[in-house]
Amino acid sequence: MLIKVDNMNLEDTIYKRQSIRNYDKNPLSAETLNELRDFIDNAKVLNQDIDWSYDIVGPDNFRMLQRFKPPHALLLFSQEKQNYLQNIGFIFQQVDLYLQSRGIGSCWIGAGGPKNYENPNPDQKFIIMIVFGKPQGEIYRERTQFERKIICEISDERDSKLIPAQLAPSAANSQAWYFTHNDDGSYNLYRNRRKVRLNKKMDAWNQVDMGIALAHMYVANMESFKFILDGPHEELKDKVFEGSFTI
Ligand SMILES: Cc1cc2nc3c(=O)[nH]c(=O)nc-3n(C[C@H](O)[C@H](O)[C@H](O)COP(=O)(O)O)c2cc1C
Repeated sequence: MLIKVDNMNLEDTIYKRQSIRNYDKNPLSAETLNELRDFIDNAKVLNQDIDWSYDIVGPDNFRMLQRFKPPHALLLFSQEKQNYLQNIGFIFQQVDLYLQSRGIGSCWIGAGGPKNYENPNPDQKFIIMIVFGKPQGEIYRERTQFERKIICEISDERDSKLIPAQLAPSAANSQAWYFTHNDDGSYNLYRNRRKVRLNKKMDAWNQVDMGIALAHMYVANMESFKFILDGPHEELKDKVFEGSFTI
């Protein structure tokens, strides 16, 4: 039995979610998948000007480097314009929280992609996927079990309002985000430039990560959150400006 909870629990889920890598191989019900589709259709987007789409597929239509075997994957596609990687991270981190709030395990998977699958929309490129299904074992973790940088490492000021972003998942737990405070109470978000480009895909995944952190700030401040892509900002050494927001 999956735990049924309402969407108000998305915020609570920030403080207990974890990537799930051990799955029951049985698929979820058609009803559960339809409810997921409904949620995705109503998720908030960061940039209205970008077309994106998704598909829910079974194990015959996705491949991944790792050996664990989830029953489902969300394949995510987008037009390549403006902040499209951020936008996908933002939309689908809401979905990650939704799944986990319902007792369904999930994990972003950069090292994988579609298999025997024809992309229905040539204008949109495959970006990344999220695997999901009923977890085997405990779905949640304790707050003390998060392995994350301390706030002072990710911000110019110690500010507990940034805890939702601090706890966000990121590719290889890289946590490449950095927040600064503006005099008007707004925040700037920067992405740490990688010193060694071990994996050129990591640059793209880190941009998805920026959207993921913004999604946590949105979910924790749903009524007030506003994002501006091109606001005035200072250039910081070894960092890329990723936009401003108010909460
Ligand atoms: C963009 C992105 C790509 C990821 N790719 C993978 C992956 O290929 N394989 C994997 O096992 N986990 C992957 N993860 C999950 C991260 O390793 C995980 O979120 C991070 O270590 C923090 O752990 P937590 O999600 O349990 O809090 C990815 C996460 C993100 C955000």
